[in-house]
Amino acid sequence: AGNPDNLPPNVPDWSRYLGVGVDANPYGMPVEFESHVVRRNVEWLTATTESSVNFTPIHEMDGFVTPNGLCFERHHGGMAVIAPEDYRLMINGLVDRPLIFTYQDLLRFPPESRFHFLECAANSGMEWRGAQLNGVQYTHGMIHCVYYTGVPLKTLLNEAGIKTSGKWILAEGADSSGMSRSIPLEKALDDCLVAYSQNGERLRAEQGYPVRLVVPGWEGNMWVKWLRRIEVGDKAWYHREETSKYTDLLPDGTARKFTWAMDAKSVITSPSPEKPVLGEGPQVIKGLAWSGHGKIKRVDVSTDGGINWQTAKLHAPVLSKSLTYFTLPWSWNGEEVLLQSRAIDETGYVQPEMAALQEARGVNSIYHNNSVQTWLVNANGAVDNVRLG
Ligand code: MTE
Ligand code: CO
Repeated sequence: AGNPDNLPPNVPDWSRYLGVGVDANPYGMPVEFESHVVRRNVEWLTATTESSVNFTPIHEMDGFVTPNGLCFERHHGGMAVIAPEDYRLMINGLVDRPLIFTYQDLLRFPPESRFHFLECAANSGMEWRGAQLNGVQYTHGMIHCVYYTGVPLKTLLNEAGIKTSGKWILAEGADSSGMSRSIPLEKALDDCLVAYSQNGERLRAEQGYPVRLVVPGWEGNMWVKWLRRIEVGDKAWYHREETSKYTDLLPDGTARKFTWAMDAKSVITSPSPEKPVLGEGPQVIKGLAWSGHGKIKRVDVSTDGGINWQTAKLHAPVLSKSLTYFTLPWSWNGEEVLLQSRAIDETGYVQPEMAALQEARGVNSIYHNNSVQTWLVNANGAVDNVRLG
């Protein structure tokens, strides 16, 4: 409600007295009134916090950049804390010269900087069989988008010299899970980065300090954190994270193989269960859209459960394999409405309804749910996660 002493015509204390001096906080933190804007986990989802996940508060994001302290964390064996002096990156296998780089070695290469989103393949995974979690932080918060700086992976592979028989790489982490993934050489030489920086400062330990792999547009699991080794090989390794995990079981008992790219997806972040509608009249629908195949071309928004669609405004910059922020002015008449958004990317791909996804993949999937999300705005303004049809 606020303090009436601070409201006009009174002169509040902050206008009458000097404020806090510089250097009160050598590393600045958000103002105390924003302390509710934090990552959150779902306690019953995992047995331990070391092999677990928390979620980015995307409903609080004004724009497409995730602040470093709010990037969701997904660890399979807890967060490793590695001093840069103790860090080494090895390149071995089908190369002319096996190499070991120190952290300082990596900093000497010409860097590249780019924004990219990282989405865990399990984002929205709880929603395959029906509406489950009543919050956009939980249904869609396994995503972040930061400005990476690092060395193109291509540069390091060329230093080592790839033998002509080399067709794949294995990226391996130094954490206790020793997470490893096979990546086709074509992708490794295309746009992957060996990143040491996010949003202008060095990586957070949560995100793989001192070095993580950036695999633009592809599922988050492949973005190996605490990267310690790249092996060049002639075929995929078929390790745990690309066989028993991060694959989807189809109705016929086979599994989808190598589902690397994250297909186009979007979600309305406000209104949402965490951002109820506060009153009738003019307001703005806000959300995020992304595609692992390139740029977002258009976002449609429906306020009647998908019967009529309007084109949302895409906020610049609209970048490839990055989050895109969209808004649509809207006036609420106080009645129940069903809000949806639908992303279309530059390949022409249209974000599907869940019915279409289930027709193609059945209901055994955990990963790669990019279906249209529906929010029910109740007459009292509260918002619920619902499934249509
Ligand atoms: N790399 C290592 N070494 N260990 C891990 O547990 N988790 C993976 C990937 N890289 C993981 C890892 C998964 S499943 C995801 S979704 C992303 O990192 C999460 O990245 P983040 O913690 O920066 O959000
Ligand atoms: Co993941």
